[in-house]
Amino acid sequence: MSFQKKLLDWFKENRRAFPWRENAEPYNVWLSEIILQQTRAAQGLPYYESFISNFPRVEQLAAAKEDHIMKLWQGLGYYSRARNLHATAKIINDQYKGRFPTDFDQIKALKGVGDYTASAIASICFGQEQAVVDGNVYRVLARIFGMDQPIDVSSAYKIYKEKAQDLMKGAPSGDFNQAMMEFGALQCVPKKPNCQDCIFKTECVAFQQAKVSLLPIKVKKVKVKNRYLHYFVLIDKFKNTLLQKREGKGIWQNLYQFPLIETFAKQKYYQDDQLESLMAKHRITSDFEVDKWNDQPIFHKLTHQHLEINFWIVKLREGTNLDTSMSQIQDYPMPKVLQNFRDKFFIN
Ligand code: ADE
Repeated sequence: MSFQKKLLDWFKENRRAFPWRENAEPYNVWLSEIILQQTRAAQGLPYYESFISNFPRVEQLAAAKEDHIMKLWQGLGYYSRARNLHATAKIINDQYKGRFPTDFDQIKALKGVGDYTASAIASICFGQEQAVVDGNVYRVLARIFGMDQPIDVSSAYKIYKEKAQDLMKGAPSGDFNQAMMEFGALQCVPKKPNCQDCIFKTECVAFQQAKVSLLPIKVKKVKVKNRYLHYFVLIDKFKNTLLQKREGKGIWQNLYQFPLIETFAKQKYYQDDQLESLMAKHRITSDFEVDKWNDQPIFHKLTHQHLEINFWIVKLREGTNLDTSMSQIQDYPMPKVLQNFRDKFFIN
């Protein structure tokens, strides 16, 4: 039996029922694919559901406030994807009268939509023969066909896409793509896959040659930067606090945070004069008292950055009017670590 037939039969039996699989509406498929680039399906599901219940159609997403979108995206990370989502919703609404384009190049030209997402939409919604290649697909192909081309170099995508494209010929393309991804997510998992119980065990090159844990090959070592972040949680006598929006490039763009001092490995802790200038910058003249909130630093790992975070509670002695009340603080989109702090500190 062909690879294609075996895979499609497997998918019939093992397909998970997700809401974005109930119909092939481009809006739903696009939204789910953007979310699923950030997280696994089970974790992405509640995000998908809250987007769909807040914005059932692309018009509503286009008309949304950016903060509302950021708030729903909160916790998924890589926040530029959420801004691209908004930009693309507006383009679909304004330039395409609310209907997704069906032409592959036009889909691919949408903001935040690369070859992967365009292929998913074109195949699942419009039956076009465009193979998807994501992390799951790289792994499945590398192992079953013994492909040893590194997957983290720029030439990899074309090689693996051609292989997938070849395997997909004549198949219902949306099912084939979803089957490949599902197979990677459920059976051919990154660590300790259950190869004894796999439909491809007789032909899988990696299994036959005992190379499962070696494939796919990656050549680059990620360079990790250590950062030391000190957040100052100002509290006035009305128990109001102060938040600021992160500007500029870098992590957590446009999310809200407490006033921050960043220090470096050679001086992990802030100096008094740094705190004084921070207070001056926010025009705070009151005396204050500083208490560290966490006993141990909080470690937070991002793909290329390891963050060491401390929260400092700064009680102001005089009645300064800070601008964020305790009841408002939940409405601001924040990065996950700050959200965790907020839920423990303010909402108890
Ligand atoms: N991961 C990302 N998109 C997916 C899809 N459509 N099916 C299965 N896994 C996925």
